[in-house]
Amino acid sequence: MTDHMPDDLSAAGRDLRAYTDELRPRHPVVKNVAGEWVLLRHADVAAAALDHERFSSGVSRYLQVPNGLDGDEHTRYRNVIARFLGPDALTPFVPVFERVAAQLVADLPKGVVLDAVSDIGAVFAVRAQCAWLGWPAELEPRLLEWMQENHAATRSGDRAWTTGVAEQFDEIIRSVVLPRRAADGNAPDDVTTRLCREMVDGRLLTELELVSILRNWTGGDLGSIALCVGVLVAHLAQQPGLVAQLRTASDEQMDAAIDEVLRLDDPFVSNRRITTCPVRIGGVDIPSGARVKLNWTSANRDEAVFDNNRFDPERNAAANLVYGIGKHVCPGRLLATWELRIALQALLASVQTIELAPDQPPEREVAPVGGYHRVPVVFT
Ligand code: HEM
Repeated sequence: MTDHMPDDLSAAGRDLRAYTDELRPRHPVVKNVAGEWVLLRHADVAAAALDHERFSSGVSRYLQVPNGLDGDEHTRYRNVIARFLGPDALTPFVPVFERVAAQLVADLPKGVVLDAVSDIGAVFAVRAQCAWLGWPAELEPRLLEWMQENHAATRSGDRAWTTGVAEQFDEIIRSVVLPRRAADGNAPDDVTTRLCREMVDGRLLTELELVSILRNWTGGDLGSIALCVGVLVAHLAQQPGLVAQLRTASDEQMDAAIDEVLRLDDPFVSNRRITTCPVRIGGVDIPSGARVKLNWTSANRDEAVFDNNRFDPERNAAANLVYGIGKHVCPGRLLATWELRIALQALLASVQTIELAPDQPPEREVAPVGGYHRVPVVFT
């Protein structure tokens, strides 16, 4: 075992945040059992994310729009999706998300144990996304079931299972895209229909491209929003002082606090790249064609950048990598931030206290997922 090759960074059953905290001070770069080079330090993760030439995003044999594309091709598709994710496009949905959040919180039983991830985060994520995209409420149970199975498949590392689950999701997406395409002028006026009418290179997006874009907007992000809600509620349950502060915070202060909690405990663990030539990074030589992982969770806790990892939204904002950096930086950041803020504001408005359930400590997720698996809490 060489200095940069400790045993196994993908070991099932490990809390990745704790494990990378342990590794990072001694090993800037580690090679896991899957043969991937995992970058753990802030400087290296940011450098690789900004170096679009030497670190390509074309990592998958499947079409991934826009995250698996490089260069001009990436830019052309990125411009299409950016139209749906800016402040003008999203502002009309603020009251919609507020209604979804208020209803969900009003329906939560008080004084009993609830799981912040599955009872609040997942349900809110699915309802908010369906409302945004114009998808029917009847899809909600199917999407919730899918999220659970997707998590289980990811954790298992079973390729056939993950592929099967991905195909099920594409089927759900086709069930909303195909009728809209067939209805043409009579399709409902919603975000999904508008996306179906988008052009790239002077032609309509193909079915394959549409499915890929919508998979990206929902498949990955439903899970991330649910996990983020779990992380935020777990943090608030253990920091009553912060709860008091947030009750009187402005929207901007609330967004900054959310970003900082997610920096400390980033459930969106990593993204992949492939080297286009031999590179030296973190003092390690990596060959051309190597698979590389940018570990955002670890980079966001790098002691070299974040002074003892103290909660300090103002000081740490500039270096925060929760939404990435470079050309692939998350275009859904505004949507995610608004959804998370609205969910938290609704919760704070309707409950007096948020406490961890007695004798049921939060359960961390394990590799390759981040955040918490379960956060049992009681609201009064
Ligand atoms: C809290 C939730 C979220 C987190 C933490 C998150 C984080 C990230 C990160 C770190 C990246 C960079 C990937 C890379 O460099 O390879 C990314 C990319 C992306 N995110 Fe998000 N994201 C979230 C929510 C969303 C939402 C709600 C959407 C859209 C509805 C979205 C759409 C995307 C897309 C399309 C990309 C690929 C961009 C590109 O390749 O140009 N994300 N996200």
